[in-house]
Amino acid sequence: MAMVTRLRVKRSAFDQAEIAEAPLPRLEDGEVLARIERFALTANNITYAAAGDMIGYWKFFPDEGEWGQVPVWGFAVIEDSRHSDVPVGARIYGYFPMASHVVLRPGRASDRGFTDASPHRADLPLVYNQYQRTEGDPPALAAVPDLRCLLFPLLFTGYLIGDYLEDNAAFGADQLLIGSASSKTGIAAAHHAKSLATRPLEVVGLTSARNRDFTVALGIYDRVVTYDELETLDATRPTAFVDMSGDGGFIARVHHHFADALKASIGVGLTHWDSPRAAKDLPGATPEFFFAPAQIAKRQQQWGPGVLETKMGEANMAFLPSLASHLKIERHEGGDAAKAAYESMVNGRTPPDAGVILAL
Ligand SMILES: NC(=O)c1ccc[n+]([C@@H]2O[C@H](COP(=O)([O-])OP(=O)(O)OC[C@H]3O[C@@H](n4cnc5c(N)ncnc54)[C@H](OP(=O)(O)O)[C@@H]3O)[C@@H](O)[C@H]2O)c1
Repeated sequence: MAMVTRLRVKRSAFDQAEIAEAPLPRLEDGEVLARIERFALTANNITYAAAGDMIGYWKFFPDEGEWGQVPVWGFAVIEDSRHSDVPVGARIYGYFPMASHVVLRPGRASDRGFTDASPHRADLPLVYNQYQRTEGDPPALAAVPDLRCLLFPLLFTGYLIGDYLEDNAAFGADQLLIGSASSKTGIAAAHHAKSLATRPLEVVGLTSARNRDFTVALGIYDRVVTYDELETLDATRPTAFVDMSGDGGFIARVHHHFADALKASIGVGLTHWDSPRAAKDLPGATPEFFFAPAQIAKRQQQWGPGVLETKMGEANMAFLPSLASHLKIERHEGGDAAKAAYESMVNGRTPPDAGVILAL
């Protein structure tokens, strides 16, 4: 009997994962069965689990009981179809569970893609429910499938952070601190922040001692400082802070060190997911949370359909080769290898230059 293999995690203790197998479900009218070819795993996916209850990431691909499925970005091929406009053999890029197969329910579909119309996904951000057909991809895009899974969602966020800083004239800062500077999203944000038209910024990367050399070698940050060295920075300079770490102790130190000179404190991520969260009453700018889909929706409304996507796409394709040159693609196939890769990622053992691609 044909089976589906899932790598699922305990929702309340997502550092615990297991491989589960079940018979492939029988399709209902309007549904398609997608065989997931490959997907990428980064700290971003661990954050989906860490923020699973708060933002609703567990709702995309519900599992049973205490188990949850962490969403990932990848490619799939339609293996069976009961939808007239999504043929068997169609290849799609989008949001999947860590699994060998998934059942989707396309709404209106074209040869460019479809939006999943499952009732349980109706209230979730549209950007996660859209699947793009890949057969008509331009050759430059078709040539980089691993990098598309691994980097595109992160590059988009990096671009949007740069755009948000641009929109706000960098909040009057002349220095930008990036927390968890070795993360791919942090690197992309640093790249875009260095070319703001409204305000030149000196971009300082803050990272762990073990990731310092990698972060320096990128050649993107004007300065790289380890978390321990934060207090050596000039506390009088007007400073904006974009944080990927979510480490409450570190965030509090940034606020206390810069105090009134801290002009913006923008929380983006939670790579240090097992650290305590930040206190509420900190000196300096009030911390805010950056949610990429909200910025996407704002620009789509302001600029009209497709404009943001074209600008982001061009900027990110231009930056891709340089970022990719610092990464090594690591491929892991099968349940046990994927589980080990997940456990390494969740425990912070995966080196920053690893580009992890999995298939179950
Ligand atoms: N708000 C949004 O819309 C949005 C969108 C995209 C991404 N993000 C967030 O941005 C963050 C970065 O994601 P990414 O995929 O770019 O990350 P990544 O490249 O996989 O980041 C790896 C880095 O994160 C830190 N790290 C990872 N796991 C850790 C652990 N268990 N303990 C301590 N440090 C750990 C280390 O950096 P350091 O040593 O430098 O700290 C490590 O080098 C994520 O939290 C992600 O959710 C947010």
